[in-house]
Order: sequence, then C-alpha cells, then structure tokens
Amino acid sequence: MTDTTTTTQELLHQRYGNDIPPSIISTPIIDLLLSHRSVRSYSNEPLPEGTLETMIAAAQSAATSSNLQTWSVVAVTDPERKHRLATLAGDQNQIRRAPLFLVWLADLHRIAQAADARQMPHEGLDYLEMWLVGVIDAALAAQNAVVAAESLGLGTVYIGAIRNHPLEVAAELQLPPMVMPVFGMCVGRPNPARPAAIKPRLPQEAVLHREVYRPEQIPPAVERYNATMSAFYAAQQMNVEGDWVDHSARRVAGPHTLSGRDVLREVLHRLGFRLK
Ligand SMILES: Cc1cc2nc3c(=O)[nH]c(=O)nc-3n(C[C@H](O)[C@H](O)[C@H](O)COP(=O)(O)O)c2cc1C
Repeated sequence: MTDTTTTTQELLHQRYGNDIPPSIISTPIIDLLLSHRSVRSYSNEPLPEGTLETMIAAAQSAATSSNLQTWSVVAVTDPERKHRLATLAGDQNQIRRAPLFLVWLADLHRIAQAADARQMPHEGLDYLEMWLVGVIDAALAAQNAVVAAESLGLGTVYIGAIRNHPLEVAAELQLPPMVMPVFGMCVGRPNPARPAAIKPRLPQEAVLHREVYRPEQIPPAVERYNATMSAFYAAQQMNVEGDWVDHSARRVAGPHTLSGRDVLREVLHRLGFRLK
C-alpha cells in the first residue's frame, strides 16, 4: 500500500465508518474531496493574498447552464455588515468571526439588463425553471470555490440561514430585482485549537441506485448510518438528541421547523421572481 492509498482508506473510514465502498480510486483531488469538513472556528490570521479572486476563478470555471452564468456573489469583509448579516442569519457567530463572508446569489438581473439594453424580450426569465437554473448555477459555482479554498488549506461553511430573512439581506446588499441570496459562506483559516472532524455520510446503497431506483435497499443502509452517526455524535461530544433519523425528521417536521423559510415563495415574488 502506498502512502496515498493509506490516506485514502483512512479518509474513507472517517467518511463511511464500516461501510467503506470497494474500489475507490485514489488521487490527490479525491483525497481533498474526501477530506471536506465544515469549519466554523477560524484563526485570527488574515487570508492569503488572492484568496477571493482565486475562489471566484474556480467558481467561474464550474459548468453553467447554457453558459448563462446566472449567479453572482457579494464578498463581505466589513465587520459591521457581517454583524448585521449574522443577526439576520440565525445569529450565527461564525459569520462575525470569519474574515470573509460570501453571499452567493441566483442572478437573473444581469441577463435581463443586457437583453433590455438591446430591447430584446426576456419573458423566459419569469418561469420557475429559470429561477432553478440560477440556484443550480450558484450552487455549482460555490462548491468549486469551496474546493479551491480547501486546496489552499482554508476552511468554509455554507450558511443556508441567509434565507431566513431574504428581503432584509437583499436590502443590506442592495440587490436589484431578480437576484436572490441562495446561501452564505464563511471563509477563514481553520483554528488549530478547534479542529473540525470529517462527518460520516450515508452508505452508498442509500444514495446510489443502479439502472433503476430501488427503495428496498435504503432502510438497512439508513439503520447502519444511524449507528455510525450516533457513535460520531458521542465521539464529538455533540449534544444531538436521538439518532440521525430523529434529528433529520425533526428538521423537516413542519413549516415551523423551516426557520421562517416557509414563506419563501412569497418572498421570491417580492424579490422579482415570477415563478410561473
Ligand atoms: C446549502 C447549505 C446550507 C448550510 N447552512 C448552514 C448553516 O446555516 N449553518 C451551519 O453551521 N452550517 C450550515 N451548513 C453546513 C452543514 O451543516 C454541513 O455541511 C453538514 O452538516 C455536513 O457536515 P460537513 O460539511 O462538515 O461534512 C450548510 C450546508 C449547506 C450545503
């Protein structure tokens, strides 16, 4: 076994517990991806020069539907603005502490503006499909930025709570119509005193179906994952009540568990998305 293979096996063990899939091919990039963990505690050191531009170049290198590039990002470093955004996003302190906070946007404004300038119609933008294209584009771009940051030894965490109060976030960032904050992202150097662990994922049988969807293969895999996650919660001294199914079902129990995002459709209308 080469060193790389040993590392990959160890990473796979952390990712899957005892459910390590066979035949994983090892490359430095695969190892980097397997090493992902969300980082919520940062050192006080500034980010390396060029971090933002490098992350954005990686983000812009992601595939994008019809090359429309229907996303944008606002980079926030001003402590007062980060503080206000943190307050709007579930009062999450890591937003205040991160040297860089990125707000990733589904952006149909730019293309509407460009078409308007040539008096060309753009009613297609009024459909749910185009809003979804913007969200997908933003997510793909953001994830490339995460991988770029992690390759530089940096840590990130997505902040979905930026959708708790999208209208206020839009006002804070002076977003034009047809631009929606999809998620935020804290970026910082990981605090060595509080290292983040690799969080296990579902066994592959729960997510990978061959040829057709096979519902019967899911429950046993979820059961095994419950055991893996319960061990992980205990090892990390995480105060999680119940196992993964308990935790996940509680998260989707009803509109009251959506952190105010149950009104998102109405909010999107107010942000200028018609969602026909
Ligand atoms: C779209 C999205 C939104 C998220 N929102 C938050 C958030 O608001 N706060 C937070 O602490 N983590 C957030 N996370 C991080 C997830 O909790 C994390 O990715 C998940 O628990 C798996 O852990 P890992 O990233 O360390 O593997 C979010 C992740 C995603 C993909």
